[in-house]
Amino acid sequence: MKKNLLIILALACGAMFTATAATESHKYVGAGQCKMCHQSDKKGNQYGVWEKSKHAEAYKTLEGDKAKAIAKEKGLKKAPAESPECLACHVGASADAALLDKKFDMKQGVQCESCHGAGSDFKAMPVMKDKAKALAAGLVDAGKMGKELCEKCHIDKNQHGAKMAAFKYDEMWAKVKHPYPVK
Ligand code: HEC
Ligand code: HEC
Ligand code: HEC
Ligand code: HEC
Repeated sequence: MKKNLLIILALACGAMFTATAATESHKYVGAGQCKMCHQSDKKGNQYGVWEKSKHAEAYKTLEGDKAKAIAKEKGLKKAPAESPECLACHVGASADAALLDKKFDMKQGVQCESCHGAGSDFKAMPVMKDKAKALAAGLVDAGKMGKELCEKCHIDKNQHGAKMAAFKYDEMWAKVKHPYPVK
């Protein structure tokens, strides 16, 4: 069952994320695999910030009444939390099921790797410590991408039965930012 769902998810995301999928070979491991090294307050507790953000709730949103109403209006055959049309952004991982590690849990919604790239090959300490190595192993230079990174999903287009509000980058980034503390 879970496997089928992943395959469907993969097919659906394919349309949206083909450009990246074609060149990717790193696996998505899930936020739980980043937690151990990114949860200390001394270093900005990125995991804690993310965990409290709406991104961590994005899958759960699909189980709510509002999501069910949207799905009904759009005539989806399945529940939103099983519909590729919704999972493409409310999880937003890989286009290819083979690239989802068994530890990856889509119930955790939009996770670190939706923005930073699939982490299987950059999450090891010796790689992480060296940014050039990390980039070569799949880390996405999120800081350089800015708004474009968000607009993969925050697109001003009819996804929810009504036109989505225009994306205000500065305002939205302020709600999810997770910088290292200033020394
Ligand atoms: C074994 C520990 C470890 C794990 C696991 C780990 N990281 Fe890191 N990460 C680091 C270290 C060390 C740095 C370098 C900066 C620092 O000292 O915090 C870093 C830096 C980063 C940076 C900043 C890169 C830059 O622009 O300079 C990002 C983004 C990042 N990690 C994301 C992740 C993600 C996403 C995961 C999970 C897939 C992850 N990390 C897992 C230890 C880890
Ligand atoms: C993989 C898709 C995806 C990407 C990439 C993404 N988001 Fe989101 N974002 C979502 C989804 C889905 C929600 C809705 C979550 C919910 O409420 O269930 C959301 C919600 C949010 C919210 C909460 C909305 C509110 O009004 O409080 C903020 C803030 C946000 N995103 C900022 C950003 C920023 C800034 C970026 C880029 C740096 C970004 N997002 C990238 C999918 C994404
Ligand atoms: C193109 C990406 C994308 C797709 C596809 C998508 N969503 Fe969303 N969804 C978002 C983003 C981004 C937000 C957060 C918007 C914001 O707060 O600015 C969101 C928010 C929501 C919300 C919260 C709205 C609210 O006001 O509380 C619900 C419910 C929702 N989506 C359901 C769905 C359902 C059901 C589907 C499938 C039919 C779906 N979404 C498909 C990107 C997407
Ligand atoms: C919505 C997209 C998004 C998500 C989700 C996200 N990040 Fe980031 N992250 C960014 C962006 C964009 C930057 C770059 C900020 C900059 O350079 O101004 C960043 C920066 C970082 C940095 C470097 C901080 C600094 O001050 O340079 C680390 C470490 C990091 N993220 C880790 C994580 C971890 C771990 C998770 C998950 C627990 C996560 N991020 C989730 C978008 C995201």
